Order: sequence, then C-alpha cells, then structure tokens
Amino acid sequence: MGKWFSEYRVFWQEFRQTFHTTGAVLPSGRRLSRALARQVGRDERPRRILEVGPGTGAVTAEIIPRLGPEDRLDLVELNERFAEILRQRLNEDEKWQRVANRVRVMQLPVEQLPLSEKYECIVSGLPLNNFSCEFVQQVLDHFHSLASEGCTLSFFEYVAIRNFKAMVSSRDERKRLQGIDQILRQELARWEFQRKIVLANVPPAWVHHLRFAAPLPCSDEYPVVQPAVC
Ligand SMILES: C[S@@+](CC[C@H](N)C(=O)[O-])C[C@H]1O[C@@H](n2cnc3c(N)ncnc32)[C@H](O)[C@@H]1O
Repeated sequence: MGKWFSEYRVFWQEFRQTFHTTGAVLPSGRRLSRALARQVGRDERPRRILEVGPGTGAVTAEIIPRLGPEDRLDLVELNERFAEILRQRLNEDEKWQRVANRVRVMQLPVEQLPLSEKYECIVSGLPLNNFSCEFVQQVLDHFHSLASEGCTLSFFEYVAIRNFKAMVSSRDERKRLQGIDQILRQELARWEFQRKIVLANVPPAWVHHLRFAAPLPCSDEYPVVQPAVC
C-alpha cells in the first residue's frame, strides 16, 4: 500500500511539474494496462518489445508476466524520476528481478532511440494529445522505422477527450486537436486490426492495436501523409 501510494504521489507531482509530457494525473489502471499489454507473448518466436513512456511501470507490470523465455524488453522513458523508479523496481520487485537481465531502462526521448534497434512489438503510453501535429507525425514515423515486419503497435486514447477539449479550446488549439485526430484516423484506417474500449478506467479509454505490414520504404511508394488542418 505504501509503495502504491508513493508511486501515485510521484506521478501526481510529475503531472504538475511536467504536464506536457506526463499527460495524465494517475498511472493507467489494471484493466487498461492489461489491454495495452495484450499483444505481448502471443508468438512462439523470441520477440523484442519496446515500451514507450512506461512512467512508474503500470503497463510494464502487465507486460513482464507475458514475456517469453527469450523475449527482450526495452523501456524508453523521458522522465528521469520515472526511469529511476523503473530501475528500482527491477532491483527490488521479485517478479521484475526474474527478467531483469533481459530488460533495459533507457532514459531518453523515444524520437532519439537509434533506428538500429528493431522491434516486433511496441506499446506506447505517450500522451499524443499534448503534442504538436508535427511531433505526433514524427513519433509515428519513428515507430514505423523501429518496427520489424509484422510489428504490432498498441496505444490508448481517452474516450471522446479530443472532441471535448476541442469544444472548450481556442481556435488554434482546436486546429491542433483536429490535426492530431486526422493523423491518428489515417494511421488507424491503414493499420488497425483490433480495438477495445476499457470502461473500467478513469477516464474510460480506447486501446488500439495496429500491425505494420512492412517497414515504410523511403520512396514514393507510400506518400508521406500530411495533416490538412495543421
Ligand atoms: C500518460 S503517461 C503514461 C505512463 C504509463 N505508461 C501508464 O500508463 O501509467 C506518459 C509517459 O510518457 C513519457 N513520455 C512523454 N514523452 C516522451 C518521449 N518523447 N519519450 C519517452 N517517453 C516520453 C512521460 O514521461 C510519461 O511517463
């Protein structure tokens, strides 16, 4: 209970200090975390798994029991305090210790993760609604470049949050949110194979699962999608 409380307190403090990148008041609930971890461990082959924005490890705790014996997990977290909590959990939590030799905590912005790394499974907790359209597009492009063929990407968005925010926002802010909406709709239309609503979360969330057929080639075969309203 004490550990749970201290993680929630750190999350709340980071939300207040770094709202733009933390993006949520609390860590994801158990049901949402489970839904996000769903694509891990669905394959016999050893897999490289990337979790982006693990925060205090709510989703990581659901990923870890699903890891196959040869799977590897990279946790890429921007926030120094969160990265320290993750390292601590790897040292101290019994379930985490068991896989610690196959888990790396990398404290850096995911957009700087070298493209020499390739993954079969990406789970993202990034607060996309807080970012500019250009940055959302940059992050998605980076995910494509980090993906090996058939890689899955799982991410969530709070139900109706963009529409609600857009209703109470300034014109520029509305334009930004509509731009993000358009980028995500295009991405989902192309790659999504499954979605799930998690009502038992505060607030309720959609979890999207995408599968990338092949890495995006650097040619004209796939034109870069430009958001029209940004
Ligand atoms: C909404 S929180 C999600 C935390 C956790 N996955 C959960 O569900 O409780 C967003 C997380 O993304 C991290 N983050 C934001 N921008 C990032 C970036 N560019 N690269 C890596 N992590 C980032 C934040 O520090 C924070 O931990």
